[in-house]
Amino acid sequence: MNILGLETSCDETSAAVVNERGEILSNLVLSQLEEHRAFGGVVPEIAARAHVEHLHRLIEAAMDDAGLGFEDLDGVSATCGPGLIGGVMVGMMAGKAIAASQHIPFVAVNHLEGHALTPRLTDGLAFPYLLLLVSGGHTQILVAEGVGRYRRWGTTLDDAAGECFDKAAKLMGLNYPGGPEVQKIASECKDGEAAIKRFGLPAPMKGRAELDFSFSGLKTAVRLAVEALPEGDLQRSDIADLAYVFQDTVADVMVDRCARALDKFKSEYKMASPALVVSGGVSANSAIRARLEALCFGQGVRFYAPPLKLCGDNAAMIAWAGYERLRAGYQDGLDFKARPRWPLDPDAAPRHGAGVKA
Ligand code: KG4
Ligand code: ZN
Repeated sequence: MNILGLETSCDETSAAVVNERGEILSNLVLSQLEEHRAFGGVVPEIAARAHVEHLHRLIEAAMDDAGLGFEDLDGVSATCGPGLIGGVMVGMMAGKAIAASQHIPFVAVNHLEGHALTPRLTDGLAFPYLLLLVSGGHTQILVAEGVGRYRRWGTTLDDAAGECFDKAAKLMGLNYPGGPEVQKIASECKDGEAAIKRFGLPAPMKGRAELDFSFSGLKTAVRLAVEALPEGDLQRSDIADLAYVFQDTVADVMVDRCARALDKFKSEYKMASPALVVSGGVSANSAIRARLEALCFGQGVRFYAPPLKLCGDNAAMIAWAGYERLRAGYQDGLDFKARPRWPLDPDAAPRHGAGVKA
């Protein structure tokens, strides 16, 4: 069974083919970094236009790479939300058109489910598992119970973790997207302990019983720390120290939240060998991965993080989610409407302030 997946919900245009054995036959990702860099963030209209311009060629190339013709496809899946609606429409319409012309099933995929199911594509991980989903738009703790079945235990009350990396990076004079830039410059910090003493940043929500996150206070603290630096050009070594402390603080909060969530997971699911998954763009961060891995090691919990090329947005995860949904008996009509908001757990209690990020 060969599934073509399409991803266009943010600033990556991607097309991929995956088969039922979880083999990635092709996975092409075109980043629009240059288009958006001058604006310091993703401009929705520019993103949508760039998807229109590039998607058809990427699809052709992905089919070529996979060595397949359209007649060899058994299904097409496309991200149909959540995300920037203009871009989502581009991938969704292309997917529907291919499904209609080939008379094959169309599957509308929730982008978050793509991230959530990635460890099943890469490692064949069985349900249920605890999931820390950390991306540019979302920061949630969920239990993945099955395809289409998620329980949201925590969410951010304000900014998402990736958004916080991006905003903090901008305040520190670094480029967009901020996550990789912060990681890079943080690795130049010579003495972590001294840096922490120098810039003690707050760790919002750390120690709280509920499993939510909050990052806007941390962002403000970074702004104040930058403002307190000596006048004139920012010194690279100062920014390296501050970036190190910022990254360490985010990792600290994640470890604290996950430790609590693991306690709850262990007591509710009573598994012999529980598993924690981190996924989404921020899961590419090596400091965060290392800290979570250490937490799991200490608790006898299996730890899964996607290979780096599958952390950020890519269509292989969308093709795989499409395959899993087809196998579970789901399929969508060509009248499926794109969903700019699409929670994985529609029954989760609303959180004050969480709004869009829920
Ligand atoms: O999942 P993703 O590619 O797109 C969304 O669905 O949002 O996540 C993008 C986010 C950006 O905010 C980016 O700065 C962050 O992931 N990111 C990182 C790293 N690489 C990407 N954050 C921290 N460390 C990284 N190495
Ligand atoms: Zn994503």
